[in-house]
Amino acid sequence: MLGAGPALGLLLLCHQALLAPGLPDGRYVAAVYEYPSILSANPEALIDRSSALEFMNRNLDRYEEQVVAAAKQGVQIIVFPEDGIHGFNFTRRSIYPFLDFLPALQSGKWNPCLEPQKFNDTEVLQRLSCLAIRGRLFLVANLGTKQPCNGTDPGCPPDGRYQFNTNVVFDDNGTLVTSYRKQNLYFEYSFDTPSAVDYSIFETPFAGKFGVFTCFDMLFFEPTVRLVTDFGVKHIVFPTAWMDQLPLLAGIELQQAFAVVFNVNVLAANLHHPHLGMTSSGIHTPHGSFWYHNAESLEGKLIVANIAAEPGDGGPLWNSPREAPESDGRFSWEDGTCEGGADTPCGEPPEGAPATPATFHGEMMYDNFTFVPLRENRGRLRLCAGALCCELDYQRRGLSGELYALGVLDDLHTVHGTYYLQVCALVKCGGPRWDTCGQETARATEKFDFHLRGNFSTSFVFPILLTSGMTLQSPGQRGWEGGHYFMRKSQLTSGLVTAALYGRWYERD
Ligand SMILES: *[C@@H]1O[C@H](CO)[C@@H](O)[C@H](O)[C@H]1NC(C)=O
Ligand SMILES: *[C@@H]1O[C@H](CO)[C@@H](O)[C@H](O)[C@H]1NC(C)=O
Ligand SMILES: *[C@@H]1O[C@H](CO)[C@@H](O)[C@H](O)[C@H]1NC(C)=O
Ligand SMILES: *[C@@H]1O[C@H](CO)[C@@H](O)[C@H](O)[C@H]1NC(C)=O
Ligand SMILES: *[C@@H]1O[C@H](CO)[C@@H](O)[C@H](O)[C@H]1NC(C)=O
Ligand SMILES: *[C@@H]1O[C@H](CO)[C@@H](O)[C@H](O)[C@H]1NC(C)=O
Repeated sequence: MLGAGPALGLLLLCHQALLAPGLPDGRYVAAVYEYPSILSANPEALIDRSSALEFMNRNLDRYEEQVVAAAKQGVQIIVFPEDGIHGFNFTRRSIYPFLDFLPALQSGKWNPCLEPQKFNDTEVLQRLSCLAIRGRLFLVANLGTKQPCNGTDPGCPPDGRYQFNTNVVFDDNGTLVTSYRKQNLYFEYSFDTPSAVDYSIFETPFAGKFGVFTCFDMLFFEPTVRLVTDFGVKHIVFPTAWMDQLPLLAGIELQQAFAVVFNVNVLAANLHHPHLGMTSSGIHTPHGSFWYHNAESLEGKLIVANIAAEPGDGGPLWNSPREAPESDGRFSWEDGTCEGGADTPCGEPPEGAPATPATFHGEMMYDNFTFVPLRENRGRLRLCAGALCCELDYQRRGLSGELYALGVLDDLHTVHGTYYLQVCALVKCGGPRWDTCGQETARATEKFDFHLRGNFSTSFVFPILLTSGMTLQSPGQRGWEGGHYFMRKSQLTSGLVTAALYGRWYERD
């Protein structure tokens, strides 16, 4: 009897742990909200704090509706986009009344909803904290914050304050658990770059450790890659205000590639402003994605998915099939095997194709790529630029006459940001002439089987795959093989828009 006591206690404890929310089958329910935010008509105007709060509360009212809807679906963590509360295009002065004071605190020391008097100018933080309590969920949101400084700090801006683009995370009790100040600002002159990088992580009872970063950060080493490699996070929350850039940097294709490369779940919430190219959100696991991309509708979207707490395990499931309308992108995949194989008969060159140059230069996303056209219906191409050689084995699966080219780049990108790229890219050309290769296009009918590889000098290569109508499919088999990074894919179910190995050589930025 005596001995049984502690043993039974232990058993009960374990049992309880197993019954904690989200744990029974090692899964959790996540949500991201692609939000058509209310934008200020005149963001450069100087207004007072109470007018700014009135404006922000209109966006926070919409957040509240989504929190309530998410809570009904059992959501345990919800992510809202960057700039969703205050908007963008401010000046340094005009954004000031929109900024909350964010005290430097240790995690877990402040619950803004329950302790509103503790600090002044924290109305937005208070409201977000209350939303987390209302929904009994972890809540991730982005806002502008201020931190006063003075002459004792040599970095202090002349106006006596730092202004940061900040993400905050509240637990399901409304307690502030971490904050993150954006490191890689994208021409946001109203904000300062933090003098030291924030490595922001937080623990959840349902899925362990999450890491936090924002928008443009995704292309850089700090803090992004370090969070995964040095801090061991398995999940990323990613508020963003991302403008799609085809063929290589549509939001969803990079989000998916990030999840695949680093074997993490990525919870990406974008703004929804199609006229500015902003749409692309998703819950991405290494095995499959739930995404939203809709340039036609003005509607936002609450994406809810039930995903594995260990990203390496199992595929995703919809929380409820009811909540997944037909128009939504969703899949879970198995890597396909090549059906045709090497014995499939070769077709003729695509009908009506213009005379083909051997190789040519073309601009793709402001970079000077070297291209080689795909002349046949199947074949092997090899093309080098700088120290990078790309090889492509391909088999076309249609006679569409659409033009495709293999592009290669080994160069420093310098427009709208400076970052070093090594890229092998099979792209559908924008139009019926070879000089349109590298231009934006989102539609294609031609299916491909391909094996693309390159001898990259960096170990960070993102396998990017985008199919017709802004849809995602598994990047197939990929990885390192004898000094080459490769992606091999067959049985595409819709036309190929882009298949690229997007290498980031961080040391050369
Ligand atoms: C913000 O600025 C960008 C670039 O200058 C412009 O294209 C866009 O229309 C502006 N958006 C708003 C909401 O003012
Ligand atoms: C908040 O501001 C008021 C008015 O300026 C001031 O009296 C009060 O001490 C401030 N409270 C805190 C916590 O700083
Ligand atoms: C200057 O800033 C530091 C750090 O925020 C603070 O401790 C100090 O009191 C400030 N000094 C003055 C004169 O305001
Ligand atoms: C929230 O509070 C409850 C009750 O005090 C506690 O059991 C739970 O662990 C708290 N949640 C987090 C994430 O700390
Ligand atoms: C692209 O690079 C090639 C080869 O280096 C060069 O000849 C060509 O002028 C470049 N094109 C542009 C637009 O810079
Ligand atoms: C890639 O291959 C080319 C051609 O063989 C070679 O010149 C280049 O040095 C290789 N690059 C690397 C990083 O090994």
